[in-house]
Amino acid sequence: MKVLVTGGAGFIGSHIVDRLIVEGHQAVVVDNLSTGKKKNINRNANFYKLDILSPKLEKIIKKEKPDVISHHAAQIDVRRSVADPIFDAQVNILALIQLLEYGVKYGTKHIVFASSGGAVYGEQTEFPAPESHGTFPVSPYGITKLTGEKYLFYYRQNSGLDYTCLRYANVYGPRQDPFGEAGVVAIFTEKMLRNEPVKKCSGMSR
Ligand SMILES: NC(=O)c1ccc[n+]([C@@H]2O[C@H](COP(=O)([O-])OP(=O)(O)OC[C@H]3O[C@@H](n4cnc5c(N)ncnc54)[C@H](O)[C@@H]3O)[C@@H](O)[C@H]2O)c1
Repeated sequence: MKVLVTGGAGFIGSHIVDRLIVEGHQAVVVDNLSTGKKKNINRNANFYKLDILSPKLEKIIKKEKPDVISHHAAQIDVRRSVADPIFDAQVNILALIQLLEYGVKYGTKHIVFASSGGAVYGEQTEFPAPESHGTFPVSPYGITKLTGEKYLFYYRQNSGLDYTCLRYANVYGPRQDPFGEAGVVAIFTEKMLRNEPVKKCSGMSR
């Protein structure tokens, strides 16, 4: 199977690429390296340095014809989504719609979408949140992730493009940037290793 991983140079996406290759699949990475790193990209993957907002994305999907698109590229910064909701929506909604259009056009069968368990529910009334929990996101980032889920539902109904949404919540592990704006576990761990106090700020969870 051929899988195109957007954001495949990032923390989560690069692990997905590694696993795909171990399992004998072909992996294609599209990433603009805005937060991702070239050294994270598995050398057996076919890498395109490209912004997912670029019209050149169509050429890549037309050429590669992936069976599955694992969509992990995103504007990931909750605080930036508040400061610049238009940019957030461009990357997280418009680029997704474009990707879905190309997927339908060039025969992709399944989309895996990185949604957010930390952001789509808003202020939780139940802990841990079951999937049936109400969704009242309180940031533009949370709204764009939830909107992405709705578009995937729409595309499945109308074009038969199947999908899986993963509502990640505070994923942590190797290759995560402990100096980023989010990733509460990595940030706290880094501070504790330096014997610094830990304090949670809004935006650390996504
Ligand atoms: N880490 C978490 O706890 C968590 C929680 C919920 C959801 N998510 C979602 O999982 C996905 C991966 O997150 P991550 O933690 O690995 O972040 P990350 O920053 O390590 O990975 C994102 C990747 O996308 C790339 N990218 C960003 N904008 C792009 C663009 N316009 N065009 C092409 N590439 C672009 C970056 O360069 C980076 O390699 C994101 O969609 C994020 O919203 C992560």
